[in-house]
Formats: sequence, structure tokens, C-alpha cells
Amino acid sequence: MLKLQGKTALITGGSSGIGLAIARRFAAEGAKVFITGRRQAQLDTALAEIGGDAEAVPGDVTSTADLDRLFATLAERAGQLDILVTSSGVADYAPLDEITEDHIDCIFDLNVRAMVLTVQRATRQMTAGGTIVLVGSIAGTVANPGYATYSASKAAVRSYARTWTHELAARGIRVNTLSPGPTDTPMFDGVSDALRETLTSRIPFRRLGRPEEIASAALFLASDDSSFVGGADLHVDGGMVA
Ligand SMILES: NC(=O)c1ccc[n+]([C@@H]2O[C@H](COP(=O)([O-])OP(=O)(O)OC[C@H]3O[C@@H](n4cnc5c(N)ncnc54)[C@H](OP(=O)(O)O)[C@@H]3O)[C@@H](O)[C@H]2O)c1
Repeated sequence: MLKLQGKTALITGGSSGIGLAIARRFAAEGAKVFITGRRQAQLDTALAEIGGDAEAVPGDVTSTADLDRLFATLAERAGQLDILVTSSGVADYAPLDEITEDHIDCIFDLNVRAMVLTVQRATRQMTAGGTIVLVGSIAGTVANPGYATYSASKAAVRSYARTWTHELAARGIRVNTLSPGPTDTPMFDGVSDALRETLTSRIPFRRLGRPEEIASAALFLASDDSSFVGGADLHVDGGMVA
């Protein structure tokens, strides 16, 4: 029995890295999958990789006009939404003295503001049994020198998940945070070899995570396998936080 048969899932940032692995896994488990991202070529490549029943809706989640268009398309094509995964996100290096207004605005605009506005719209199309998986980061829990703004944005993500767990429980909608450790995705491509080695040495399993391993945890949180899990922050990090 496929775990997501008959479900419709939206994955923001589903055209790359962790979001793409989640989209692939959900489609393999029988879900109808919608992905969104800004680059059309990346969406096209992703659709070919995902296979199954998948559609791409291009757009920028920091634009409310694009978000409204995305959810109108979803309503028209699928009718209802069962699963939301917010994976679109950005990280940017800036130690305290180098933090600028643009740096703060850019990170919080995507990682926090757009995430909130996406969840708000998604819950309007969800009924009892809906599940929301917010992709956070272990950076929201542990110190990450040079990435204070990113870390703060991910701490905000898990904070929202806790409050929304209470607000949405009466409607039968579950919210959880999925917090990966360093994972080998295009986001990680820009990281220097030195930082990559330092991070790896801090991971008890002595390697980066694979997007597929994060997708397995997302499947758990999105499916009935986690029916009594709410407001959790699931670290998938090779033991790094421990
Ligand atoms: N990789 C890691 O080590 C790691 C660790 C912990 C947490 N995370 C979190 O995991 C999530 C995914 O990261 P990743 O490593 O998979 O990154 P990635 O490979 O760079 O993918 C980011 C995705 O987000 C989309 N995106 C970016 N800005 C967008 C916007 N304004 N509107 C719509 N889509 C947008 C990108 O597509 P377009 O560029 O085409 O828009 C892409 O599909 C992020 O939230 C990240 O913070 C990653």
C-alpha cells in the first residue's frame, strides 16, 4: 500500500536539493505532487526526475501575487491540498560586523515571511488530515558562526510550527518542523572545502546527509505514520545536535 495514495502535496523549492528529493519520494508513494520555484528550466528538469503525477507552477514565493496564482492553480487542478512542505530557503554568510539590512531582509523575506504567507494560504485549502512540514535546520538549534541571521530565521520556523500546532489541531491539521543537518545539495555547493570539512568533523556519522535521507523523514512527518506527532522538531543530522 502506497503511503500517500490519493493525496495532493505542494512542495515549495521542489525543483532542487531537499525539496526535489521530497517531491520524488512523495510521487513514488502515490501523491499528486505540485512543485514551485522561480527557474523554469530547473522546474522542467525536476519534473522529468520526479516522474509520476507531478506538475510545476513557476513562481516566487516572496511575491504574494505569485502565491495567490499558485494556490488558485492548485484549487483548479486538484481541488484540495493534503500536504504542504516548505523547502524554499536561502542561507548567506555574514558575521556580525558584515550583517547588512539587505542580508537580513533577504533571508527573513524568504525563510520566514514567505513561509508564513504560504502556510496561511495552504491551510485555507486543507481539511482534517492535512499535514504541514516546515523545513527548518539544525542551525535553528545550535550555534553556527557566520550564519546568525540564517539560524535566527530557522529558529523562527520551528517557533511558528509549535504555535500553529495548537492553532490548527482543532481542524485536524498537523504541523511539524523537519531540521536537516548539513546535506549535500546545490545550496551546499557554495560552501568552501574548509567549512565542509569542519562541519563534517562535527557530525558523529562523519559525512553529509543525502537529500533522500531527508525525504524519508519528510515522508514520515507528512504521512499517517506520524499521526500522533505534532509540533516536533525532527533533527535529521547524523547525530550533529546530539
Ligand atoms: N542543504 C543543507 O545543508 C541544508 C541544511 C539544513 C536546512 N536546509 C534547508 O533546506 C531547504 C532546502 O535547501 P536545499 O539545500 O535543498 O537548497 P537548494 O538546492 O538551493 O534549493 C532551494 C530551492 O528553493 C527554491 N527557491 C529559492 N528561492 C525561491 C523563491 N524566492 N521562490 C520560490 N522558490 C525559491 C529554489 O528554486 P529557484 O532558485 O528556481 O527559485 C530551489 O528549488 C532550505 O530551506 C534550507 O534552508 C538545507
